[in-house]
Amino acid sequence: MLKKTKLSKVLGAVLAVFAAVATSCVSEKGFKPISVKELREPIVKTIADDWLLVTAGSKDNFNMMTASWGEIGHLWGEPVFTVFIRPQRYTYQFMESSKYFTVTVLSEQYRDILNFCGTRSGRDYDKIKETGLVPLYTDLDNVYYEQGRLVIECEKIYADDFKAEKFTDSSISEKVYPSGDFHRMYIGKIVNIWVK
Ligand SMILES: Cc1cc2nc3c(=O)[nH]c(=O)nc-3n(C[C@H](O)[C@H](O)[C@H](O)COP(=O)(O)O)c2cc1C
Repeated sequence: MLKKTKLSKVLGAVLAVFAAVATSCVSEKGFKPISVKELREPIVKTIADDWLLVTAGSKDNFNMMTASWGEIGHLWGEPVFTVFIRPQRYTYQFMESSKYFTVTVLSEQYRDILNFCGTRSGRDYDKIKETGLVPLYTDLDNVYYEQGRLVIECEKIYADDFKAEKFTDSSISEKVYPSGDFHRMYIGKIVNIWVK
């Protein structure tokens, strides 16, 4: 009898350790932290076809927009993600004032949310209210969403505007920027990635 009690105590302790390890690996709402080298994602297809929600700002005052342009890579010895934001976007001012930005890839069933956030401005709409996006917060107080399946948290390390005279193929500049509203590129050092 005594032996049985001891055994169940040991088993209980082992299970508690397993539970603690599992909880520390899986963050809020089923997101699991991974390193950039563990990313198993056809990322170019993800960016181009699934699109991204780019979010910047503080917990109390943030904005998000849809993007289908982006780059992931390795630069200055760091893993980086770059987004391209036109100056007329409401998100632009949040990108300017924030130290961090996040990139959230949503599951396919949330395409309506991406369509809304890609055609309406946060100046005119409360996108959280209109779309049902559920904000979650990283340890650095940056915003991502429960509807996400992949989240990349970035610290801004470089920002600059495209310039007409720098295009080696000027047809792109003429076609994409007839009114001179050149995107600003924000290179972000990847500080965290989570997947579901
Ligand atoms: C599929 C798609 C991709 C987009 N990609 C970008 C992008 O990479 N950069 C950008 O500045 N705007 C992009 N936009 C436009 C913005 O998402 C859109 O203007 C949005 O309403 C801006 O919202 P905001 O004013 O609240 O920032 C895209 C729109 C769609 C639908």
